[in-house]
Amino acid sequence: MTEVVHTPRVFSGIQPTGNLHLGNYLGALKRFADSQEEGIESIFCMVDLHAVTVWQEPDDLRHATRELAAGFIASGIDPTKSILFNQSQVAEHTQMAWVFNCVARMGWMKRMTQFKDKAGKNAENASLGLFGYPALMAADILVYHATHVPVGEDQKQHLELTQEIARKFNHDFEVDFFPETQPVIEGAATRVMSLRDGSKKMSKSDPSDMSRINLTDDADTIARKIRKAKTDPEPLPSEKGPLDDRPEARNLVNIYAALADLSVDQVLAEHGGKPFSEFKPALADLAVDRLAPISTEMSRLMEDVAEIDRILAAGADRARAIAAPILKKTYQIMGMVGA
Ligand code: TYM
Repeated sequence: MTEVVHTPRVFSGIQPTGNLHLGNYLGALKRFADSQEEGIESIFCMVDLHAVTVWQEPDDLRHATRELAAGFIASGIDPTKSILFNQSQVAEHTQMAWVFNCVARMGWMKRMTQFKDKAGKNAENASLGLFGYPALMAADILVYHATHVPVGEDQKQHLELTQEIARKFNHDFEVDFFPETQPVIEGAATRVMSLRDGSKKMSKSDPSDMSRINLTDDADTIARKIRKAKTDPEPLPSEKGPLDDRPEARNLVNIYAALADLSVDQVLAEHGGKPFSEFKPALADLAVDRLAPISTEMSRLMEDVAEIDRILAAGADRARAIAAPILKKTYQIMGMVGA
């Protein structure tokens, strides 16, 4: 079998479930903008079909999808350079997901920790869609033959499953069709933690709004949340090692590094020895400087939702043009008549 070389193509997605936060920005959006600037063909998706694996009020979903699109654009995604669209407009995602439902094994799906976390004790009452969620995610990626997927650390297991699905399909049908997609989990902020508890991930579902910085927060709110962030009484160390036992301090340093485009070592070289009473205001200034323009731009874009809808429809057309032939070829490989 000859080795097929796949041209580099980036794909990533974010759920439009509201409360877009600093973790989404540093772990995902900011890095998407970087990959776009590197000139790699990039496809970014508002995964509304993933969102409805748990209940969504229709009006809230509509609003959150448009607001997320505004968040992408305000974070530097240029819809004329990258492809920006919402998942439900490109039917090939769900068509490919069905194929992968038949490739993935129950045992693989049962190992997914995110399902266990999300379904909680009431797994019998979770939707079938929530269980199958990672197969749809594999479809999102592989229906474009994407080679690189920038994500935060919490998505690692889903991307390993994506690789397993691609491998099994290629093996079962004796083809070298789907690429081995690489997760890109890089930088200081692949796992931004809660501002109230350094052992918990910053999350849109945390009941405390003080635990996260939302991309819609104004400057005063951002500064107040950083001022009130949990820390310890020690000053910042001058090197990384001691941060291992100080999760809250480490989180704030990581956030600073990612916002400033510096390494953790560089941040500590500058701020090591300072008490939090000095470091927090510096971090608040930096966060406001980087995030306030995004929030302002999001509000401006949200004044014209018709324009956002036009951008998403145009993005969907471009996405479909890539996905349709790949789905067709998949069907041909499988023996579907008419494909
Ligand atoms: P979602 O919507 O939960 O999160 C979107 C992106 O933000 C990252 N992220 C974080 N990064 C750092 N620190 C945090 N605290 C933090 N919280 C969230 C996530 O890792 C993700 O990159 N299943 C995905 C959506 C998805 C997808 C895909 C992603 C569907 N299909 C295909 C990539 C490729 C999810 O629920 O992300």
